Amino acid sequence: MKILLLADIHANWAALSAIDESFDVCLFTGDAVDYATDPVPCIEWLQKNATHWVRGNHDHSVAHRVTVRPGGTFRKMAAAMRAHHFDVLGDGHLTWLAQMPVTQYLSLGAHSFLMVHGTPRDPMDEYVANVKDEWAARLDHVDVDFVCVGHTHVPMDLQLDNTRVINPGSVGQPRDGDARASYAVIEDGVVEFKRVEYDIDQAIDSMHRAGIEDSVIRQASIVLRSGGNPTAHGL
Ligand SMILES: [Fe+2]
Repeated sequence: MKILLLADIHANWAALSAIDESFDVCLFTGDAVDYATDPVPCIEWLQKNATHWVRGNHDHSVAHRVTVRPGGTFRKMAAAMRAHHFDVLGDGHLTWLAQMPVTQYLSLGAHSFLMVHGTPRDPMDEYVANVKDEWAARLDHVDVDFVCVGHTHVPMDLQLDNTRVINPGSVGQPRDGDARASYAVIEDGVVEFKRVEYDIDQAIDSMHRAGIEDSVIRQASIVLRSGGNPTAHGL
């Protein structure tokens, strides 16, 4: 069984549509929306292709119209794209976001999985990086082979005693210094992390067509082209 594991698409259809991968099952660990301007094709792709999914903090925030107060770079970007989201998303899209479960336990083939966007302790919002002790402290009573997460936008592969914690990285807004769309494939228990180049200009053009303010598009362009690490790329 070949499992395609996706996270943090963030309304970036150019990135999602560049993933050319066959799969038997598609797991999505949250954040379909915000940060870019193509939420509709991203949600409709997930509705058609994802087998199981969980809610990210941005999915929750859009579904329930939680106001984003522009603070740092990312909050400003999310806030600036939000009005366009409400222009283009229909009731069916918003209801789908609102009905996303926060956690999912499932068995696929010989393996058991827990899906959650952040951590089992704080499913939508907690950021925990690639630190074994910190993850071990969050897996009490979690008895599965794989915990699949998202949220940090950085790929992670952490083997604890009986559980492997996998973050496939972000499809639509990588933050590990590699601008390519990030995802993972799990086949018969073997995990492979993958990257694919995509047309970043297409994502930026979409923001212009959506009428997003120029200063925000410039910032979004820097984030996307630098894989979230402008300093390393001299941007
Ligand atoms: Fe995210």
